[in-house]
Amino acid sequence: MSNKELYKLKKQLQLINETVSNDVYNLGEQFFEKIVIKLNKALDADYTFIGKLSENHNSVETLSLVNTEGVLENITYDLKHTPCQNVIGQNPCSYLKNIPELFPNDQLLIDMEIEAYVGVPLYDSKKEPTGILVCLFKNEIKDTYAIESILMIFASRASAELEHMKLYDSLEKYQKKLEVKVDERTKELNQKNKELESSNQELAKTLESLQKAQIQLIQSEKMATLGILTSGVAHEINNPLNYIIGAQIGLSNYFENHKSLDAENTNILLESINIGVKRISNILNGLNQFSRNNKNMDEDCDIHSILDNCFEMLSSLTKHKIDTIKNYSETVLMVKGNSGKLHQVFLNILSNSIQSIKEQGEIKVVTTLKEKEVIIEIEDNGHGIEKDILHKISDPFFTTKPPGQGTGLGLSISTSIINDHKGTLKFNSEPNIGTTVTVTLPLKQN
Ligand SMILES: Nc1ncnc2c1ncn2[C@@H]1O[C@H](COP(=O)(O)OP(=O)(O)OP(=O)(O)O)[C@@H](O)[C@H]1O
Ligand SMILES: [Mg+2]
Repeated sequence: MSNKELYKLKKQLQLINETVSNDVYNLGEQFFEKIVIKLNKALDADYTFIGKLSENHNSVETLSLVNTEGVLENITYDLKHTPCQNVIGQNPCSYLKNIPELFPNDQLLIDMEIEAYVGVPLYDSKKEPTGILVCLFKNEIKDTYAIESILMIFASRASAELEHMKLYDSLEKYQKKLEVKVDERTKELNQKNKELESSNQELAKTLESLQKAQIQLIQSEKMATLGILTSGVAHEINNPLNYIIGAQIGLSNYFENHKSLDAENTNILLESINIGVKRISNILNGLNQFSRNNKNMDEDCDIHSILDNCFEMLSSLTKHKIDTIKNYSETVLMVKGNSGKLHQVFLNILSNSIQSIKEQGEIKVVTTLKEKEVIIEIEDNGHGIEKDILHKISDPFFTTKPPGQGTGLGLSISTSIINDHKGTLKFNSEPNIGTTVTVTLPLKQN
């Protein structure tokens, strides 16, 4: 063996040692680059590259391509008419010389002025061809055995690395696909959420209008029954009342004409009959408001007489228990609307006030006119309303009364009636001190 050959062999052994000890731990493209640089040098090649076989097995893409000067840009080439075609998926193959003659259609090798070729195939763990490891020489070579053997050693290591890279690539692709899927799903879910929200809102609206319709139904039922009842009662009382009124007038006239010694006493008795008769008339008048179950909003409503009627109708509940104070404005306060319904509002508000007073108490009604607005304040010194429920008291069916004692509809009906009259209803309350309800209605325009 010549000195030169010995030196070459030493260089090759050194390369194997280095690669096995250090580079085995390097992964990926860096590994390929290091390997081909070292192989190119150790094997005295002009070009060395590791190539990856395309999916359709028609072409090869270099993963690292070097020449004697350094790393070159990677290329992709067709396998057809190349020496690599005889290596990939087959056995190691060497051409000592005459590449241009042997492969006259491989323009790339001709342009690179290649004369000799050594290539070994790369396989994955399932024995599927995956690529190629190649050394190219510009001059003919004598012995290919050593070159082939060394390339074979590195081929198995490169194959493993290539397989690892492929796995990593497909994992990355899979992860991207998953991310896209998750993205799509999130969008779908968001869309579904929005749809659910809007159908929820629609449901809430439907529920609200159903509740309103229910209240109106209950209300009109209540009014119709009350109307039938009161008109019957009023009619029945009116007849005998007319007898009494007639007799009272007759008696008055009689005692006027036949003055007796007892005139003073008889006058007192006659006056008390007169007061009683007037009260009965007022009550009947109040009851009659309910019998007129109409929807007319064009009636002239005298607020003071409506309030008086209501007090009259509730007098049995206030008697001996509640002082009623009326502080009416001097001007007559007229409102355009439905008299029966306004009666209902004030009856509801006054009933609540009466119910809030346990033993002795006071209800004060103040009416004022302020810039074409009629303001009615109904103030009681009852048990008041806790702050945390104040905003709910006008809600339909909200009641703090024991079951069977309150429907919780009084204020919600009143609110909707006042709204129909283009007015407002406000509540102010202090627990244990009392409540003030303020009703505002537009004054009737002349
Ligand atoms: N003047 C008031 N003082 C204290 N609490 C009141 C007063 N007015 C209303 N409330 C409270 O508001 C609730 C709702 O009143 P609303 O008139 O709507 O129903 P209700 O009185 O409970 O039942 P219904 O009117 O059918 O008898 C009452 O249960 C009560 O707790
Ligand atoms: Mg009530």
